[in-house]
Amino acid sequence: MTGGELSQHFANGNGLIPLRDAFSRRSAVMPFRGKQRLPSDSFQSAWQELLSSPCPPRKRLAYIHVPFCANHCLFCGFYRNAYVPDAGADYTDLVVEEIQHDARSPALRSNPIQAVYLGGGTPTALSATELSRIITTVRAELPLAADCEITVEGRIIHFDAEKIDACLEAGANRFSIGVQSFDTTVRRRQGRRASREEAIRFLEDLRDRDRAALVIDLIYGLPGQTPEIWQQDLHTAAGIGPDGIDLYGLNLIPGTPLSAAIAAGKFPSTPALAEIGGFYDAGADFFRRRNWRQISNNHWGRTTRERNLYNLLIKEGADCIAFGSGAGGSIGEVSYGLTSDLAQYREDLRADRKPLGMVTTSDALQPLRNLVTASFEIGRFDLARLGALAGGETVASLTELLRQWEGAGLLSLNDNLVDLTVAGRFWYANLISAFHDILENRLHSAVNAA
Ligand SMILES: C[S@@+](CC[C@H](N)C(=O)[O-])C[C@H]1O[C@@H](n2cnc3c(N)ncnc32)[C@H](O)[C@@H]1O
Ligand code: SF4
Repeated sequence: MTGGELSQHFANGNGLIPLRDAFSRRSAVMPFRGKQRLPSDSFQSAWQELLSSPCPPRKRLAYIHVPFCANHCLFCGFYRNAYVPDAGADYTDLVVEEIQHDARSPALRSNPIQAVYLGGGTPTALSATELSRIITTVRAELPLAADCEITVEGRIIHFDAEKIDACLEAGANRFSIGVQSFDTTVRRRQGRRASREEAIRFLEDLRDRDRAALVIDLIYGLPGQTPEIWQQDLHTAAGIGPDGIDLYGLNLIPGTPLSAAIAAGKFPSTPALAEIGGFYDAGADFFRRRNWRQISNNHWGRTTRERNLYNLLIKEGADCIAFGSGAGGSIGEVSYGLTSDLAQYREDLRADRKPLGMVTTSDALQPLRNLVTASFEIGRFDLARLGALAGGETVASLTELLRQWEGAGLLSLNDNLVDLTVAGRFWYANLISAFHDILENRLHSAVNAA
């Protein structure tokens, strides 16, 4: 590796403030790196082959996507379909059918499933009966581990006592509730209809049932969300006493209503990158003072009930069996996405086809890529583990880069143990992308030299 290839990943140092200045932009971790798309006409045969034999023992997850929402929140890139009761009932029939069909295959039966995630969209837009049917089917048909984490993702609006009870009775043991901000003005401006008081009442009720882990999602960097409002958001969320809290930096996604509104000058713009690190720092400091466990860069746990298993295992590259329109999963080196076109999803299932929109295979680097992602994601790792997969020469280059990042205030490196600072955790996706680039360059050089 040349010095230039390495130095392009160096962080800005020399007395600058790492949280603010380490890089000029925040990277995203690209899920499709190193993946080769199969031709569309081979999707079905690849799928059948995949399902036909048992898989080697590996950690395993299941994901069920519910692509409906009450409305399109301005900041969100996940919105696909408006929820209407008839569509929910029909969709539930299809998902149940899909699970029952695939569950019989040798591949799905071969390993226990450690965590199930019912995500969206908004699963809690479905009716109590629909939620219960999906969770009951998952538990009856899939080989769940005895301590399987079963998460239902939702929001406050339209999630009532009947639905909560239906989820609990069916076996859900974790709720991840998107709040984003408790400030009524900030919330409503983004299309979140419940007021601060309604949000708090709802969450306290869920907490008081004491029958499942409760996780609250907050976003920092929303328009109008000042540092003072952010402090209030943190205090309010922690004051409710949930089992865990996620803090996400706002990703201003092109094509979302928020992007369009800001571009048209109809909205105050979001905080500049230079200020965003301060919001993360305030959150990290808030939890450190209260002795919450930092489970990953964006997630803190208050109680031992919270494991965050699905999110941790997915980053490690665990197999993920996916169901539902718009879901994505992977088994071994094959990754797949299910069509987000509801009519196509229905038509494929009715014709006894898996509703595949995309099938890819990974290159030989994927296990190492996964290890890098999972390691930086939890903020502390042993470089020797990477070395065992990457080889000594590669680790020497990576170590040189880690030393530069250490000098720039992003981490400490002692006896092979890498420990990210708060700034390193804020910029973690940049660090992952740099490692992935370097590993790919080395792989390509080795292939070209051969
Ligand atoms: C897939 S979304 C579904 C959440 C749920 N439907 C709701 O409305 O709360 C899961 C979480 O992603 C986060 N999220 C969504 N859009 C985001 C964005 N543009 N930037 C940062 N975080 C975002 C939010 O915190 C949200 O709770
Ligand atoms: S934040 Fe949730 S409810 Fe709002 S559009 Fe996104 S997925 Fe739907």
